[in-house]
Parts: sequence; structure tokens; C-alpha cells
Amino acid sequence: MSSPLQLRFLLSASRLGQLPDREVELAVVGRSNVGKSSLINALAHRKKLAKTSKTPGATQLINIYEYGAEASGQWLVDLPGYGFAKAPKQELERWRRMIEEYLTESPTLGAVLVLIDGAVGPTELDLQNVEWLNHIDLPYRFVATKADKVKPSKSKARRTELVTKLGVERSEVLWVSAETGAGIPQLRREIIDFFADR
Ligand code: GTP
Ligand code: MG
Repeated sequence: MSSPLQLRFLLSASRLGQLPDREVELAVVGRSNVGKSSLINALAHRKKLAKTSKTPGATQLINIYEYGAEASGQWLVDLPGYGFAKAPKQELERWRRMIEEYLTESPTLGAVLVLIDGAVGPTELDLQNVEWLNHIDLPYRFVATKADKVKPSKSKARRTELVTKLGVERSEVLWVSAETGAGIPQLRREIIDFFADR
């Protein structure tokens, strides 16, 4: 096992303009319920740092977690998910605008972790999101979540299907499980390197 990432909850915001000065951010995006907040908890080895829920729509604001030393200005950012069908339309639209404003306009956003459900993804909505990210020209890294939900006998076929649908090489997707901790040490290393390079 590797050491947990040092992450502290800093604040929640509903607009880009509410965010204080910072150095650099790494944002976590993905469909509602894909496991964004659970992944942040696994990285920090904390159970309740980020709020998680069985029901989609747990995260409704831009939630900022500060990495490393106090006042480092290095942030890991948890966002609401897209495609949460049960929320009122207006609410969905508000979240979408909030996420898009943040992703397109934060000048210090350095990269994005794009989460895809390893058991069922990518969905049509995931693919639309990836296409949108390609347009805005932000570096991103694919992370396949819930690896523990894929039966070992199905693992090879599932991995092939996932990368084929995404149109990427196997090495471009990191498989993780917040449940078992699989892949978490590798992702911690990548995040440490990301912040160290800034
Ligand atoms: P929103 O905030 O609604 O966008 O969702 P989210 O992407 O933050 O998902 P969240 O972390 O709240 O997890 C959603 C559900 O998936 C919860 O019931 C988690 O326990 C479950 N989950 C998350 N990661 C894993 C995993 O690695 N394995 C398994 N089996 N379940 C997971
Ligand atoms: Mg969440």
C-alpha cells in the first residue's frame, strides 16, 4: 500500500467567481454515481471526506479539497455528475452550466480525471462528454471505476470493450476500485507527480 494523499476539505462553491486564489487544480468529472466522491475518499483513505450516496446527485456543488501543505493552492476538485435524470430539469441545467463554466473558464485548471464506470461504461453520455472535453483542449486521464464489480472471468472482455468504445489504448485507462483499493496507489503517484510538476 501507498500513503494516503493529504487532502483537506476547503470549501464548496456554486460559481467560478466564488473561488479564492489558487495555484492549480485537478478536477474529477464523470456521470452521476460513477464514483467521483468515493474515489476522493479512497485517495485520502478517509470514509467521509467527500459525501457519497447510492442515489445519484450526492454532489451538487464544486467541492474543493486542498492537497499537501496548508494554503498550498493545489486543489483536487469534486464536481457534480452529469446525466442525473431524476433531478428537476432546471436543476440539471444549473449544474451543467456550473460544471461547464468551471471547466472552460478556470485559468488554473491543469487537467481532468475522467471517470468511466468500469462495469457498464462508457455510456452515450460519457462519449458526448469526452467529445466536449476534446474541444476545450484540456489534458485528461481516463479512470475506470468499480473494478471490483467486474467478474474476473469477464475482466478481459470488459476491458477490451471499454477501450474500444473510448477509442484509446489500454494504457490510457487506469482501472481502480474505491472498494478494494485496486489501482489507488498508482493514481496517488500520478496525482503526486501532477502537483509536483507545477
Ligand atoms: P454524484 O456525486 O451523484 O455525481 O456521484 P459520485 O460520482 O460522486 O458517486 P459516489 O462516489 O457518491 O458513489 C456512487 C455509488 O457507487 C455509491 O453507492 C458508492 O458506494 C458506489 N461506489 C463508488 N465507487 C465504488 C467502487 O469502487 N466499487 C463499488 N462496488 N462501488 C462503488
Ligand atoms: Mg459525488
